[in-house]
Amino acid sequence: MKLLVTGGAGFIGSHFIRYIVKKYPDYFIVNLDALTYAGNLENLKDVEEYSNYKFVKGDITNRELINHLFEEEKFDYVVNFAAESHVDRSIIEPDLFIQTNILGTQILLDVSQTYKVQKYLQVSTDEVYGTLGETGYFTETSPLAPNSPYSASKAGADLLVRAYHETFNLPINITRCSNNYGPYQFPEKLIPLMVINAMNDKTLPVYGDGLNIRDWLHVEDHCQAIDLVLLKGRNGEVYNIGGNNEFTNIEIVKTILKQLDKPESLIQFVADRPGHDRRYAIDSTKLRKELGWIPIYTFGRGIKETIDWYQNNRSWSENIISGNYQQYVEKQY
Ligand code: NAD
Ligand code: DAU
Repeated sequence: MKLLVTGGAGFIGSHFIRYIVKKYPDYFIVNLDALTYAGNLENLKDVEEYSNYKFVKGDITNRELINHLFEEEKFDYVVNFAAESHVDRSIIEPDLFIQTNILGTQILLDVSQTYKVQKYLQVSTDEVYGTLGETGYFTETSPLAPNSPYSASKAGADLLVRAYHETFNLPINITRCSNNYGPYQFPEKLIPLMVINAMNDKTLPVYGDGLNIRDWLHVEDHCQAIDLVLLKGRNGEVYNIGGNNEFTNIEIVKTILKQLDKPESLIQFVADRPGHDRRYAIDSTKLRKELGWIPIYTFGRGIKETIDWYQNNRSWSENIISGNYQQYVEKQY
């Protein structure tokens, strides 16, 4: 079985590769990643020694390269994590999000179609559904109503995946997950940013009133869900993934400060994110009932272990902040 994982040097993709390489020694996994600012091969140091794993540096918008790779490797499965993933960056530079998230997806779909893969799985997000009020949950049939250039680009990609299934019979699944947390998350995202700032006695910038709600899931539980959908998901279906862990941002920030024994005076309320979604909450009944998915982590255990990890692996974040992690890449590729 040959599996192409795109964006595998990023946060979730690197966890997924580690999970698959260990669980399925008879699978061969190719990690295709452009190594943008968010791609970090340090995330995969322990995986490099596995003989069923190979890294290829490349961009999903490069059709020639993608064609060549499929011709060479004859993949059975494709899991597309590669994306520009940060909402704030999409507000400053939307073009790149359209290029990678929409055009890149379309190229992968085209080539997957040409080479007749057994399944193409698109890793999407709950943000395509837009925002919720104080009650209710996103289900797979909630309307798509994205509010940021990031989520609009992910929604555009989802619609293309759907269209390739309907028009060309490409076997597909789409997963839509809520906010992930865990080790190796790039320190522009809420949890690692706040942990690292607090460790360094820097201020913690909380947008708006801090009462926006996110539904948090440990990254390993997300990976387990993707594995299930890839192998057992019904062709053409969308599956929501979420852990029922709703917290306001200020609750998350205070939890971090408490564990690190740092004062709440580090919190600084700053200007709100434009178009800031108020609340996300995922209904993952379909995934749980159809495929038997059960998340392993409670939020209490997951957040504690995650904060411990950033404390015990300070060199990982220091290499990012100093830019050294990219110098390694320049030497190798
Ligand atoms: P990330 O930013 O940490 O990693 C993205 C990876 O994609 C990086 O390694 C980067 O180098 C690579 N990449 C970017 N552009 C590329 C291109 N043109 N060609 C090849 N590789 C490219 O992102 P993440 O948080 O790990 O998210 C992975 C996927 O999961 C994304 O599709 C995202 O939309 C989705 N998702 C993320 C979350 C979350 O909470 N982080 C939740 C739900 C869904
Ligand atoms: O819901 C899934 C999505 O979760 C993924 O699709 C995205 O790729 C991922 O980045 C994440 O998006 P969010 O915008 O929810 O995550 P972020 O970590 O950027 O922000 C989480 C919340 O914290 C959000 O309400 C904004 C707020 N925030 C964020 C940062 C970076 C702050 O208050 N201060 C900050 O400095």
